[in-house]
Amino acid sequence: MAAVRDTLGRPIRDLRISVTDRCNFRCPYCMPKEAFGPDHPFMADSRLMTGGELARIVRVFVGAGVEKVRLTGGEPLLRGDLPAIIREIKHGIGVPDVSLTTNGWFLARHAAALRSAGLDRLNVSVDALDGAIAGRMNGLGYRVSRVLDGIDAAAAAGFPIKINCVLQGGVNDGEIIPLCDYFRARGHTLRFIEFMDVGTTNRWSLPQVVPAREVVARISAVWPLEPVGPAYRGEVASRYRYADGRGEIGIVSSVTEPFCRDCNRARLSADGRLFTCLFAAEGRDVLGLVRSGAGDAEISRFIAGIWGARSDRYSDERAGLPPAAQARGKIEMSYIGG
Ligand SMILES: C[S@@+](CC[C@H](N)C(=O)[O-])C[C@H]1O[C@@H](n2cnc3c(N)ncnc32)[C@H](O)[C@@H]1O
Ligand code: SF4
Repeated sequence: MAAVRDTLGRPIRDLRISVTDRCNFRCPYCMPKEAFGPDHPFMADSRLMTGGELARIVRVFVGAGVEKVRLTGGEPLLRGDLPAIIREIKHGIGVPDVSLTTNGWFLARHAAALRSAGLDRLNVSVDALDGAIAGRMNGLGYRVSRVLDGIDAAAAAGFPIKINCVLQGGVNDGEIIPLCDYFRARGHTLRFIEFMDVGTTNRWSLPQVVPAREVVARISAVWPLEPVGPAYRGEVASRYRYADGRGEIGIVSSVTEPFCRDCNRARLSADGRLFTCLFAAEGRDVLGLVRSGAGDAEISRFIAGIWGARSDRYSDERAGLPPAAQARGKIEMSYIGG
């Protein structure tokens, strides 16, 4: 099948897959423990895509133009078959760029196996170096030192690593400079992500968002930064390099400077529903079609039909709207895959 384009001419290049909606952390901006307690109805295992189903769906997406696959969640390292899934996507299907986003808690144990399975790149989430602040940001008081050890193990295994940091004003914005200092010394690119209004449980409010330009100004006051052009069309992070030549940072400004225009990203939830936008209220059931016995050609037509009708530019459109007008059914990040 020829590469599919949506109604705004955007191709489908990047597929993000949530492999589980479960997580061992309870970051308040994503899965606050008040809402995701012991009785939370996580997906039954039978609803999750199996490794085989997931690979089959990826193969069809590759036929539609996908070149990059990112595995996420929830916490993807909770899935014991993750190395096998990666091996199939990378070597069985031949996807050029396979990456993983993880909270890093189990990384030291799995880094070498992930590398030998064929994983190309890693993003690890670190919101603070200060133990008390990091414990608050993961919701359960877990030690950040274990995550940092996981990052060292992943670097030793040969991974290029990016660090994701969600900034929440008044909670961890005092960590911006210490994080830059620590990660530039180790050669890992740090990406600051604006706190987004995904889901309905994280009590998001605009004053908690630390705007991208403020982050750049704060870092520049210590280490001057220079803008760098995007590495490729549709790159979500604005890139800056340190003028002293010691690495670069990225800023994901999805709230203050949305970037829907070039968005070429499809998302698959852990139960195999296709979402064409992080802010979509509803997904389309690709896994249901697979389980009904459909052939690849039918699945391919289904996906092409959904992408071909895509017109989402939610972040662009909601900018400037009053909060009441922005409210709509929204899906949790852990379900759809961050
Ligand atoms: C949902 S997590 C899944 C992967 C893994 N558990 C992790 O934390 O890296 C993926 C990314 O989404 C980010 N994220 C979660 N909720 C967010 C929010 N409300 N705004 C911005 N980023 C968010 C996380 O910080 C993380 O970097
Ligand atoms: S951001 Fe990642 S680690 Fe934190 S609760 Fe969400 S899925 Fe878990």
